[in-house]
Amino acid sequence: MRSRIVGTGRAVPPRKLTNDDLSKMVDTSDSWIVERTGIRERHILEPSLAASDLAAEAGLKACRAAGVDPSLVDCIIVGTVTGDCPFPATATFVQKKMGARLGGCAFDLSAACAGFLYGMSIADGFIRTGQFKYVLVVGVEVLSRIVDWTDRATCVLFGDGAGAVLMTGDPGGVRGLLSTHLFADGSQTDILWQPAGGSREPLTGDNLKSFYVKMNGREVYKHAVRNMAASAKTALEANGFTPDDVAWVIGHQANLRILEGVSERVGIPMERFFLNVDRYGNTSSASVPTALDEAIEQKRLREGDLLLFTALGGGLAWASAMVRW
Ligand code: ACO
Repeated sequence: MRSRIVGTGRAVPPRKLTNDDLSKMVDTSDSWIVERTGIRERHILEPSLAASDLAAEAGLKACRAAGVDPSLVDCIIVGTVTGDCPFPATATFVQKKMGARLGGCAFDLSAACAGFLYGMSIADGFIRTGQFKYVLVVGVEVLSRIVDWTDRATCVLFGDGAGAVLMTGDPGGVRGLLSTHLFADGSQTDILWQPAGGSREPLTGDNLKSFYVKMNGREVYKHAVRNMAASAKTALEANGFTPDDVAWVIGHQANLRILEGVSERVGIPMERFFLNVDRYGNTSSASVPTALDEAIEQKRLREGDLLLFTALGGGLAWASAMVRW
């Protein structure tokens, strides 16, 4: 039994925030942001909506693309660090909103920007053991709600969005998920995190600054290039492939320079990296499924193509996956 992606979808809020808009809010410029990150604009969710609204929209589109009625979805995994509320799981809101099977399984997964790939790995296990038939994996973030809009070092990087894939089993299939590799390093928790808002430092009203994303950009950059590249190489070696075999790298759209560093280290030219970071910014767990959905929409993928996925985020947590499309 091999698990396969049978449908994809994405949901992006209509409101755009450009670099020029940001330069009116903080001391920055379009040229600085483009040169350091490749980002030109990002999307921001309207205040009346939450993560589950975006996630349900992306999930419904994935079901529609697969031709599968949402009521048949028996498991929903949502990768997010900006869910609707600490509990219950955002996945339970999504289940109700998209009309998935009530009584099915639904839970959230916290692995920051690697959340979607962690979710695909868990879905693969569920499907291959026969526990669930249709598993929806969603990456969704509303990072605009936890970004300090007065901190130019972080606020220029992030955006909101959701991407989803519907997975199911294909007995004897050649196409589908070939491998996943998951990693974490708990010695680096403080280089990218949201210190307050949990049991460690509950929100008191006086510590709002600690509720916002804190990041040591240079350290994150180093780890991202090194570990995304290493996990990509692990995927290639585990499957007996070379960089030349890969048709597309669908990498975490953190920023263009990180992906260029990964390209150099793995030995896969940038022409084979799918890119949309310029229009979305870093949408954390949503970035990989959103990029996959756009690559499909733009008819870039052909049947049989070898796809390499890689992502890293807070934790640090990182992962890779290999798919025969
Ligand atoms: N506009 C203008 N100037 C800025 C801005 C800005 N938005 N942000 C910082 N600067 C200034 C700094 O204050 C500093 O000024 P100084 O020299 O007078 O002190 C100068 O620019 C250089 O700052 P650095 O932080 O050293 O800049 P760097 O070249 O490292 O680039 C960046 C910063 C883009 C954040 C880089 O470190 C990076 O890409 N890191 C990875 C971060 C990332 O992608 N995080 C996302 C989450 S993790 C993930 O998804 C993998």
